[in-house]
Amino acid sequence: MTMATTIHSLDAREILDSRGQPTLEVRVTLQGGVAAAASVPAGASTGVNEAVESRDQDPARYGGRGVLRAIGAVRGEIAEGLRGHDAADQAGIDRTLIALDGTPQKVRLGANALLGVSMAVARAAALAADRPLYAHLGSDDATQLPMPCLNVLNGGRHADSSLDIQEFMIVPVGMPTFARAMRCAAETYQAIRAILQSRRLSTAVGDEGGFAPCLPDNESALDLIVEATERAGYRPGLDVAIALDPAATSFSVDDSYDLARSGTGRLDRSALLDLYGRWIERWPIVSIEDGFGEDDWAGFIAQTASQGSRIQIVGDDLLVTNTRFIGRAIAEKACTAALIKPNQIGTVSETIAAVALCRRAGWSTMVSHRSGETTDAFIADFAVAVGSGQIKAGAPCRGERLAKYNRLLEIEAELGVRARFENPFARYSRQ
Ligand code: PGA
Ligand code: ZN
Repeated sequence: MTMATTIHSLDAREILDSRGQPTLEVRVTLQGGVAAAASVPAGASTGVNEAVESRDQDPARYGGRGVLRAIGAVRGEIAEGLRGHDAADQAGIDRTLIALDGTPQKVRLGANALLGVSMAVARAAALAADRPLYAHLGSDDATQLPMPCLNVLNGGRHADSSLDIQEFMIVPVGMPTFARAMRCAAETYQAIRAILQSRRLSTAVGDEGGFAPCLPDNESALDLIVEATERAGYRPGLDVAIALDPAATSFSVDDSYDLARSGTGRLDRSALLDLYGRWIERWPIVSIEDGFGEDDWAGFIAQTASQGSRIQIVGDDLLVTNTRFIGRAIAEKACTAALIKPNQIGTVSETIAAVALCRRAGWSTMVSHRSGETTDAFIADFAVAVGSGQIKAGAPCRGERLAKYNRLLEIEAELGVRARFENPFARYSRQ
C-alpha cells in the first residue's frame, strides 16, 4: 500500500567533514513528496568493537578514505531493499537495514551507509508528520534539555598538545536553563582564551574546537579551567564543574598506561586509578569517561567500586553504544553511565535501545558527537527525544559544534515553559 510516508527513493553523495575527510550525506524522498537529508560523523579514537564504517581503501582518492562504496550501497542494495517501506516505522526500517547488511559489525554495507539512511528516514518521517524531530523520535513528553559538557582543552589524538587526556570538558552545572548554561560555558571558554593569550600560549584549537596549548602537564589544564571559571565570574564546582575523557586506550601500552606527552610516564592500573583519585580530591571533577583502556574491564570495575559514588564513570570505547557490552558492564558494575554515539552502533533504533537499557539499570547517558563532524544536528534532537540528561558536542567554537548547541537553544525556545533543565551531577556535588 502506498502512503505519503512510503519510501520512494534514496540517494547519497560524498561530502567533507570538519577535518576535510570524506563522509556521506544521504537523502530520502517519500511518496508524498517530502525529502530529507542526514550526514554521518566519524571518530578518531574509535573503539575496536564499534560498527565499522565503509572506506574505499583506494589510495588514489583521499588517502583511501573515500566513501564511494558506501554511496553505491545506499543507491543500490539499500534503496532496493527499502523501496515501498514505511518511513514512519523506524524500528522496521532499521531491522531491514540490519538484515540487509547481515554482519554483526555492519562491515558489508558499512555502518556509515546504514546510519545515514536511518537518520535521513527519521528526519523525513518527522517532516511528513509535521513534527519536530525530537518529538517524532521521542514523544510529547520529550521536554528535557541535556546538560552540555563542552570540551574546552583538546589533547590525545585530537591535538598535538602536551596533554595525554583527550578531553577536558566544562559542565555548567549551576545554571537554571540550557541557554544560561551555554552563556556560562561560552564566557568561561573566552576566559581560557584570554588567559592563554596573556601567557603567550597558543590559542589554536583542536578537532573539537577546544584549545590545544603546550601546558606543562595535565594538572595545569585543570588549574587553567578553574582559573578561567573564576575570571568569568563563576564558582568552580558550584557553577562550573569538570568532566574528563582520557580516552585511555590511546595511551595504553601492554598492561600499563604511558602518559608520555605530559612526562608523567608509565603507570600501572592501580597507579592510574590513584592519580584519578588525587585529581578528584583537588579539582571539581564530576565525570570521567574511558579512564581505562577498552579491554581493561578490571580497571573500570575497580574505578566504579572506589570512585563511582563520587563521580560518574562513563564507558565509551568500552561499550560502543552496544547493548551487548552495556549489559555486561551493568552486570559487572564496570560503569555508571554510557556514552551514546549513533555511529558506533549504526542505526537510530539500536541507539534508542542502548539508552533504554541504561535507563532500566539506573544508569545515566551522555549523547555524543564525533571528532569528525558535519553541521547535521541530529544528535541534539536525539538527546531531547530520549531524555538523555547529558550531551557532549565539543567546545562552543566551530560551526559543526555550535550546530548542535544552537539547535538545542532553538528547541528550548520552542518548548517554552514546557522545557526542563536539571543538573544530572547534583548527587556528586562536594563543596
Ligand atoms: P572520537 O572521540 O570521536 O575521535 O572517537 C570522541 C570520544 O572519544 O569520546
Ligand atoms: Zn570518549
